Amino acid sequence: MYEDLVRIGTGIPGLDDMVEGGYPFPSTMLVAGGTGTGKTTFATQFLFEGARNGEQCLFFTTLSESVHWMLRFAVRHTFMDKKYFGHEIKYVDLGSRIKSLRLKNSGELSEVLLDMIESEVVEAPPQRVVIDPVTIFESMMDEQTYRTFLYDLSSGMKNWQSTTLITGEVMPDSIYSDIVSYISDGVMMIYNDDEGGKRRRYLEVLKMRGTAHTTGKQMLEIGTDGVTVYPYE
Ligand SMILES: Nc1ncnc2c1ncn2[C@@H]1O[C@H](COP(=O)(O)OP(=O)(O)O)[C@@H](O)[C@H]1O
Ligand SMILES: [Mg+2]
Repeated sequence: MYEDLVRIGTGIPGLDDMVEGGYPFPSTMLVAGGTGTGKTTFATQFLFEGARNGEQCLFFTTLSESVHWMLRFAVRHTFMDKKYFGHEIKYVDLGSRIKSLRLKNSGELSEVLLDMIESEVVEAPPQRVVIDPVTIFESMMDEQTYRTFLYDLSSGMKNWQSTTLITGEVMPDSIYSDIVSYISDGVMMIYNDDEGGKRRRYLEVLKMRGTAHTTGKQMLEIGTDGVTVYPYE
């Protein structure tokens, strides 16, 4: 039997039209790219789209970064409205929380993180979640623990009634073999290409389960309105 997937707006102008109207709900989406490609901006826009619709949203930063620090940069974008913080949007600084604990090994780190994330989700079940960037834990855990951590996180996420957007510092040459891609129902790659001394940004939807999406690189720009995508002609 053919059943339509429930979809939610991505919050990125131009993107909904490329993915049959929005992201499947619930699902796990990955936004990948190198540093400065626009992942945090993208993820913030995705949450604000939810906040404007009255959805409950959770923003996990894995960096040790206070909400004030993040807001200093984010307020420069037009989509940003501080009034949602502490109401529709809850900001959780995972980086600082784990720093304050004396963890013995990466196994313990993984356990504590999964507990912290899960308990926030259980406390106030969100429709949208961001974990930005999830790949930072690769440098804090041994390889096997990191893999198990991601698999456990992924199976936990399947029980949430939410669309979760994770971001990853992953380069185009390794995106197909990276574990963060396997655990995601959708993968969007952002490129910042050097074209004869000029930098151009592109977005490519590499995968989106259950979705007839555009293929190939599309144009991506960042400005005061945040991230916008355009079909590449
Ligand atoms: N108002 C703006 N106009 C143009 N570009 C901007 C603006 N604000 C941010 N940027 C670009 O976005 C980049 C930061 O994006 P960010 O989302 O933090 O990237 P990432 O999380 O992938 O490292 C900046 O380095 C800059 O190039
Ligand atoms: Mg970032």
